[in-house]
Amino acid sequence: MKKISIIYGSSTDNTRETAEKIAELLSEFSPQLKDVAQCSADDFTTADCLILGTSTWGLGDLQDDWYDMLPRLKSVDLSGKIVALFGLGDASGYSDTFVDGMGELYEFFFGKGCKIVGSVATAGYSFDDSRAVVDNKFVGLPIDVDNESDLTDERVSSWVQNIKPSF
Ligand SMILES: Cc1cc2nc3c(=O)[nH]c(=O)nc-3n(C[C@H](O)[C@H](O)[C@H](O)COP(=O)(O)O)c2cc1C
Repeated sequence: MKKISIIYGSSTDNTRETAEKIAELLSEFSPQLKDVAQCSADDFTTADCLILGTSTWGLGDLQDDWYDMLPRLKSVDLSGKIVALFGLGDASGYSDTFVDGMGELYEFFFGKGCKIVGSVATAGYSFDDSRAVVDNKFVGLPIDVDNESDLTDERVSSWVQNIKPSF
């Protein structure tokens, strides 16, 4: 069975809680669940599949702990890894930079030769602009607990069903 690591960066626990839901739904794979603030490059290289989550702060910035990690991964070989992304954001308060952090993770890991899975249709989300939209789709799963927490469980569980065959 493939080794899955779920790694998240979270400032006020929303991304952490979403990561925990994803881990629960993938329990048959016994995934590793880790805060990126506690990770080393080895946590990325030893997994076959990476599920990576970030919130967005400032105006379209990655969650802080990811900014510390990405430079440490620059010279690490991650080519061929299967990567699925999820991003926490606020489509109402930050409609022009909705889940931009997830877009930044996409650019980094795609640029390192990872195979990105788990894109999501933009239909059903109300926002003006996002760095996480590529070819008219989100590059991963956007979650907005600030405005649409009632939709979170359904969004997470249908996304997890969609990505499972990639593992
Ligand atoms: C000061 C501030 C700036 C934010 N900037 C953005 C943003 O640019 N884009 C976005 O989609 N969400 C933005 N958010 C919303 C957060 O990403 C959202 O609340 C998220 O759930 C926080 O997740 P965390 O607790 O895991 O860090 C911002 C929130 C705050 C308080």
